[in-house]
Amino acid sequence: MKNKKLKLSNELVQKNADGFNESNNPESKKLIFPSGFLWGASTAAHQVEGNMKNNWTKWEKENAERLVKEAKTKWQPWQQKKFPEMFEPKNYISGQACDQYHRYEEDFDIVKKLNHNAHRFSIEWSRIEPEEGRFDEKEIKHYRKVIQALRARGIEPFVTLWHWTNPQWIEEMGGPTNKKFIFYFARFAELMAREFFGLVNFWLTINEPTSVISASYISGIWPPQKRNPLIALKVYKILSQAHNQAYETIHSVSQNVQVGFANVLVYLNPVNKSSILDRLTVKIGNYFANRKFLNMTDGYNDFLTLQYYFHFDVAFLATNNNKNEVVSDLGWEVYPEGIYHLLKNLGKYNLPIYITENGLADAEDEKREKFIKDSLLWTHRAINEGIDVRGYFYWSLIDNFEWDKGFWPRFGLVEINYKTQERKIRSSALEYAKICQENTVKI
Ligand code: FCB
Repeated sequence: MKNKKLKLSNELVQKNADGFNESNNPESKKLIFPSGFLWGASTAAHQVEGNMKNNWTKWEKENAERLVKEAKTKWQPWQQKKFPEMFEPKNYISGQACDQYHRYEEDFDIVKKLNHNAHRFSIEWSRIEPEEGRFDEKEIKHYRKVIQALRARGIEPFVTLWHWTNPQWIEEMGGPTNKKFIFYFARFAELMAREFFGLVNFWLTINEPTSVISASYISGIWPPQKRNPLIALKVYKILSQAHNQAYETIHSVSQNVQVGFANVLVYLNPVNKSSILDRLTVKIGNYFANRKFLNMTDGYNDFLTLQYYFHFDVAFLATNNNKNEVVSDLGWEVYPEGIYHLLKNLGKYNLPIYITENGLADAEDEKREKFIKDSLLWTHRAINEGIDVRGYFYWSLIDNFEWDKGFWPRFGLVEINYKTQERKIRSSALEYAKICQENTVKI
């Protein structure tokens, strides 16, 4: 039976809309991924480790009450009803988070059990270098144990060096608005490359530069809440140079490792393809969201990445024209097809591609399995058309602290009980585990 409501044009997806019940579907297919494909999930230190001391922790305490008040207008009535936690200040304070700092062994046992052969996490700069030039040996040792714990389980680490949080001393000098950021970050990257020489093959310098640029310096909702397009342009420059320099310093330690950055891309479509203004809006959007940073780091990437969350049907002066037929708990449109178009575009750069984040908030775990399978279906299609995609990391391994939104959005393959820190594997995680084991998606 066809699901008419979805109005899916593509043949592959129509099969998908029929469901994934292999035995009932004579047309069921096996989509086999290239051998050696990396399967995993992502996290970021600030969102899972707990007990941080960085620019975000300071900001959280100063802004929790305000965020509680704003929740009334920011979220739809159904979201307010479903997630009353959004009205508690402690929702907005990362605090102990998932206590992964102490529980990484337990979490990596889960990673292993779920058949992941790769895992992405970040090293927290504020732990390693709490004051300028003072490097904390104890914390270096901690992260060495973290990496070794992955290696001992046969899991390939993908290590991010800057997932948005700054040591307080970096924040006080202006974070990535100060040119000195470039030197300090490249120095930190070099130290990490040296300390973890032989243990890490894949380094991701900067996470989603354009998200920070837009949320911190254009809309001004994230720390340091500076709304200034000129500063935003400066941050493009500083973050891209920080990446380029870190690329050099990491490679000065080892030629054998691979260096890239974690890049979020947005799939933009003109509402009216024959409208010059709609098309122009898409062009401008594509330049700032999808191309500018890649251009500025040209020649400094051993591989490219894709982090995909958003698709927008764009009209002139009106961004959100989405159909929103299926949305996540955050109200973000579920639009797996976008991943295909973005992969096709990235393919033009002729570098290997890893999907380092793709996921949705779904507390009831009702949409996650289909979301993952649909996203992989579109990824497979891009691979079939010659795009060199080598890995997929779902966001996230575990529920975690979702920045200015706090704990209520639940992205995890694994559910966290924040009172007891108990981990509970969601059923979609088990479906994904089958895919990882068989290197195959069955539709
Ligand atoms: C990405 C971030 C990640 C997480 C997901 C939901 O933009 O990189 O930390 O917040 O969104």
